[in-house]
Amino acid sequence: MSKSTIGVAVLGCGTVGGGVAALLMSQRKLIRQRTGLDIALLHVAERDITKHAGLPGAPFCTDAEAAIDDPRTGIIVELIGGTGAAATLIERALRLGKPIVTANKSLLALRGPELFALAKKHGTCIGFEASCAGGIPIINAMIGGLVANRIEALVGIVNGTCNYILTQMTQRGVSYSQALAEAQKAGFAEADPTLDVSGRDAAQKLAILASLAFNARVAERDISVTGIDSLQEADLKFAGELGYVIKLLAIAQRGKKEKISLRVQPTLVHKEDQLAGVGGSFNAVSVYGHAVGHVLFYGRGAGRTPTASAVVSDIVQIALGVTPLAFKQLNLLPENAKVSLLPIEDLSSRYYLRLTARDEPGVLAQVTKILGAHRISLSAVLQQETSDSQFVPVVITTHLAREGDMLKALAKINRLKALRPAAICLRIIDPPREFASES
Ligand code: HSE
Repeated sequence: MSKSTIGVAVLGCGTVGGGVAALLMSQRKLIRQRTGLDIALLHVAERDITKHAGLPGAPFCTDAEAAIDDPRTGIIVELIGGTGAAATLIERALRLGKPIVTANKSLLALRGPELFALAKKHGTCIGFEASCAGGIPIINAMIGGLVANRIEALVGIVNGTCNYILTQMTQRGVSYSQALAEAQKAGFAEADPTLDVSGRDAAQKLAILASLAFNARVAERDISVTGIDSLQEADLKFAGELGYVIKLLAIAQRGKKEKISLRVQPTLVHKEDQLAGVGGSFNAVSVYGHAVGHVLFYGRGAGRTPTASAVVSDIVQIALGVTPLAFKQLNLLPENAKVSLLPIEDLSSRYYLRLTARDEPGVLAQVTKILGAHRISLSAVLQQETSDSQFVPVVITTHLAREGDMLKALAKINRLKALRPAAICLRIIDPPREFASES
């Protein structure tokens, strides 16, 4: 190996690891032409021999520790995932002063600040572009292109699996379970989709993005999370009739007294909002900066080649010396800067309610009386005739209300004898104002 060659070890050869190995091998010449750097794939550490297929010529090995320790290895790419073996291997590499590239949002959301401190202590760095929104260069944008901005809000569709499922449910009227089965067949959803459909994957990404946006330590547990696994087809249909689509949004927003609201939730998005048009497995992140205004990043947020594109970009930035310098200087994922969280009861939002009401006089009046008593004003009411002579769906949207008031009102509504519990309650998003802090 020549002196100017930079050796890379890829740990884990699953979908993304295989994609990275293939991209490094196929683009070695292009990268050399563009950067003058010769980046050589030295090791692909993978115990499962079935994953070797499709990568002829790749330098497979089974000993990840030996791949890290090899003196020729200059950059280690962790694509094993999870918070167990991956963490141990990352720590080993950092202690040797070797830079890490990782897509591991679970680990960064859990132990990012600690690992970043360890990297700094040993004079090295961590590249994590692929941890959020796959191929979209959102991390570089947050720490580079948008660095002069006070971030007011960040609203993202950051889970491709959920977006694919919701798009199928919206466009074709299929049930959640049918859409999930189709997503699995098409290779978008994992065999065990829990991390995605529960909203946790999106929350882990939001924890990382919000940490960058607000220069604070944001953990997954700081985020209020609702997944898409209990969404009903009826709500997508009624939302559509009211002019909305339902998206799983990850939202981080600066509010009054600098309190930050953090949530992942199925949300009604107006059909004219750009995020409403983000379909299939695509991701999009809207960022509102006080100087730049609204910027929207759109692209493929998951999958073999888009995520590999982000990983290889980190490898090159490290090899160029850009990331090591920036990492040393920038205060990324700080350990001790606590985020001041807005309690979820103090959130101000518009709401969508679906009630199943006995079709008899005075029922709607009971509901509106409770809402009124909690200072909740209605913006629309939808009730349609059905063949069921006993119960009818009633859909209500509200103006801005305090979440705490809505929760109290809901508890009372759910006790009404004329209603079938429990009422469905979803939030509606009004796009953040572009230059909110200037007014
Ligand atoms: N499973 C994720 C998604 C990609 O569907 O977006 C990795 O975080």
